Amino acid sequence: MTKKPLRSQAWFGRQDKMGFYYRSFLKNSGFPQDQFDGRPVIGICNTWSELTPCNAHFRALAEHVRAGVLDAGGFPLEFPVSSLGEVTMRPTAMLFRNLASMDVEEAIRAHPLDGVVLLMGCDKTTPALLMGASSADLPAIGVSGGPQLRGVYRGQIIGSGTNIISMSEQLRAGEITLAEFHEAEAGMNRSAGSCMTMGTASTMASMVEALGLGLPENAAIPAADARRNLLARMSGRRIVEMVHEDLKPSDILTPAAFENAIRTLAAIGGSTNAVVHLLAIAGRVGVDLGLADFDRLGRDLPCLVDLMPSGRFLMEDFYYAGGLPAVLRALGEQGLLHRDAMTVNGHTIWENVAGAACWNDQVITPFAAPFKPDAGMAILTGNLAPSGAVIKPSAASPELMRHTGRAVVFDSVEAMHRAVNDDDLDIDASCIMVLQNCGPKGYPGMAEVGNMPLPAKLLRQGVRDMIRISDARMSGTAYGTVVLHVAPEAAVGGPLALVRSGDLITLDVPARSLHLHVDEAELSARRVAWAPPAPPADRGYQRLYVDHVLQADRGADFDFLVGRSGSPVPRDNH
Ligand code: FES
Repeated sequence: MTKKPLRSQAWFGRQDKMGFYYRSFLKNSGFPQDQFDGRPVIGICNTWSELTPCNAHFRALAEHVRAGVLDAGGFPLEFPVSSLGEVTMRPTAMLFRNLASMDVEEAIRAHPLDGVVLLMGCDKTTPALLMGASSADLPAIGVSGGPQLRGVYRGQIIGSGTNIISMSEQLRAGEITLAEFHEAEAGMNRSAGSCMTMGTASTMASMVEALGLGLPENAAIPAADARRNLLARMSGRRIVEMVHEDLKPSDILTPAAFENAIRTLAAIGGSTNAVVHLLAIAGRVGVDLGLADFDRLGRDLPCLVDLMPSGRFLMEDFYYAGGLPAVLRALGEQGLLHRDAMTVNGHTIWENVAGAACWNDQVITPFAAPFKPDAGMAILTGNLAPSGAVIKPSAASPELMRHTGRAVVFDSVEAMHRAVNDDDLDIDASCIMVLQNCGPKGYPGMAEVGNMPLPAKLLRQGVRDMIRISDARMSGTAYGTVVLHVAPEAAVGGPLALVRSGDLITLDVPARSLHLHVDEAELSARRVAWAPPAPPADRGYQRLYVDHVLQADRGADFDFLVGRSGSPVPRDNH
């Protein structure tokens, strides 16, 4: 049994006026008196929403968690938190990640809970719940919703996002018809679940598992596979035990856990978005993680997983091939895993994966013959990005990794869209597209617009990749030679704001360098002439966001949310 009194007993264990309030109102759901007798109260934190299609199956998933909590003698209480639908929210779901994390943190702290199960799936729902639960620091276990089944269109396998991008460019180039485009839409999203490429949702579900915050196999079981429901039920059982053991996020989210996650990120060829989210989560638990750690730990690591957007297969294939346990085992065998890192099931990560098998070495390739040899995130610095920038080499074109080109600058995403289809735009395939004012404060919300569409006239010439540089993010399902998260961003006067069309820029990924060939005197003159863009809002949440958001190299969290407050029992409300 637990060594310390259950937190929920500060509500339900009282035999006075307030105890009457707390128990009586809940009894309107039919809960008997014995539910309040000192059993762990488990919150099921649900991001279900019809406006978040990737999480639309979460009501059913929550029932499996509930059954597991009851199996283990707990008292389950489901509650909603803000849901962030990547495809429906404007201007970008990322604008609301920190808001949702506050919702999660405060909801956990305010209620009579002893532990919490986090149901998360679509991109930003995962970091939002992990950030909030880490700051609240009650025992917590993550349950991802699982990826969709493979997309299929006219006998071809198609992947979320990845084929949207390629097919929209085929449509613009006149290679497919609008009717074919519409037909493919229904074939891509044919089951419950999140994007089934190794995009941000699948990457973050993998991070949940690699950090030790979810049960083994959390990353890849498809949403439509009954074993996803089994994992939910076992997580419900396990959280009750975690409460008795007082096993909290701060016990699991150690520096070793983050190092395991960063190496896993390289080995799966994961989304660049994970860089921002891991930095933010680390900030909540006081782990000193910086951009340089991603380069230090991921450098020279191979990508083992041949999944879209970089490769051929999809998450369903990944699961059948052995899933993340097979990747973690491969890392461990190479001495690249902190084997003693603790996980939510009470076992070390190595105990969980030492016996994992790979059933398909086309999907999960061996270290000796990896899918891509150099896959870790490359962190660039230089006079164009003094605080750093990110590029994902496994999604880039090898011939562009060392390149000098003429800048073609757009000062907003609207200006870029207006110009990119204009055949009079002065641009060729050797140029470097530069997008300003799309960072955390500038957009605001650091939108996924960094993988700018290529100019229509170049598409017609057969050009399929160019260097693109911005302070924005990129969808995890996207690909290309795209430099992202440039910090400081243009909207706060970072050097990115000073680039002019015609300047020369050198990208040198092997040297980890991003250099603007403009002398300091000229840059100083441009700096004096620079004026910040008008603030996007003078009230409300956007005002709060712009006033407090940190730069990308700090995870774009709010300055006042860094750290944790724990879960002391709040004062009575009467
Ligand atoms: Fe929800 Fe991709 S849009 S996971």
